[in-house]
Amino acid sequence: MKNLISAFDLSVKEIKTIFGLTRKVKADPLAYRDVFTGKAIGLIFEKPSTRTWVSFEVGFSTMGGHVIYLGPDDIQLGIREEVRDVARVLARYLDLMVMRTYSHKLITKFAKYFDKPVINGLSDLEHPCQTLGDFFTMIEVLGDLKGKKIAFVGDGNNVLNSLLIIAAKLGAHFSFATPKRLTPDQHIFTRALKEAKRTKAKLEGTNSPAKAVKGADIIYTDVWISMGEEGEPEKKESFKNFQVNRNLLKHASKDVRVMHCLPAHRGEEITNDVIEGKQSIVFDQAENRLHIQKAILLYLLGSCEESQNNSSEN
Ligand code: CP
Ligand code: NVA
Repeated sequence: MKNLISAFDLSVKEIKTIFGLTRKVKADPLAYRDVFTGKAIGLIFEKPSTRTWVSFEVGFSTMGGHVIYLGPDDIQLGIREEVRDVARVLARYLDLMVMRTYSHKLITKFAKYFDKPVINGLSDLEHPCQTLGDFFTMIEVLGDLKGKKIAFVGDGNNVLNSLLIIAAKLGAHFSFATPKRLTPDQHIFTRALKEAKRTKAKLEGTNSPAKAVKGADIIYTDVWISMGEEGEPEKKESFKNFQVNRNLLKHASKDVRVMHCLPAHRGEEITNDVIEGKQSIVFDQAENRLHIQKAILLYLLGSCEESQNNSSEN
C-alpha cells in the first residue's frame, strides 16, 4: 500500500514508471476503460479546484471507476466528526482518497487511519501531482533534461516545494527566484539538496528573477496569493520585479517555454502577452494533469503490471 502525500514518497524508478504509464494512457486511453470497474475513490476538497478535481474525476471514471466529490460543506472533516472516525469509515467504502486541504498535517493524519492509498491534491506544503505532470510536460517538450535549465520565478510555496523535490530526483538543473522572506520550505530544500548530491541535480536559489532565468529553457511561475492567503494582499508588495513578462524572457534561451500551474492572474505574476504567446505551453501542461492522474491511480491501486515490478525504495 502506497501513498502520494509528498513528492518524496516516490523513488526515481517509480517516477519514471509513472511517466512511462502516462505515455501509454495518453496514447491509448480506451485500452484502460474497464480497469477500475467496481472500484470507487473519494475526493475530499477543502479548497476550490478546476484541474485537480476534474482531471481526477474524469480520469478515474473514464477508466471504469466511480468517483465521489466531498466538498467543504459535505463531511466537515474534523468539525462534524473526528478525522480518525471519518477515515476509518470511508476506508470501508472507498479504494483510494484524494485530498486538498489547508493543512498538510491533516492529510498525514487522515492517512494514518485510512488504510488505503491517499493522494495529496494540494496542501499548504506540497502539490506533488501537479509537479509530476509538469516534469512529464518538460520532458515531452525538451526531451532529455540533461543540459537544460529550468527556472521558477515567484512564491516559495507548495508548487515550488514539490518542483524542487522532483527536480532533485530527476537530476535536473533547477534555478529559482523568490522574494527574501518567501523562500521554499527549509526542511524540503535541505532534503532535496541531499538528494541532488546523489543524482547530480543542480538546485540553486536567488532573489533575482533575471539571474534565475538566465539561459533558461523553461520559466515557470505560480500565483502570488495562494488559496487561503486572500487576507494578505500586502504580500503582493514583495513581488515587485517578479513578473514573468517580455523583458524577463529576454534573459532566457531564445526558445524558452513558459509554464504556469494555473489559475493565473494576468497582470500580476504573468502578463497576458506571455501567457497567450507562442512560448506558452500552459494548456498542454494543464492537459497532462489528466494523463498523469490516470497513471498515478493505476500505479497506486496496483492495477498495472508496472506496480508489481517496482520496489518502493526511495
Ligand atoms: N493547478 C491546479 O491544481 O489547479 P486547480 O487548483 O484548479 O486544481
Ligand atoms: N500556490 C497555489 C497553487 C494553485 C494550484 C495555491 O496554493 O493556491
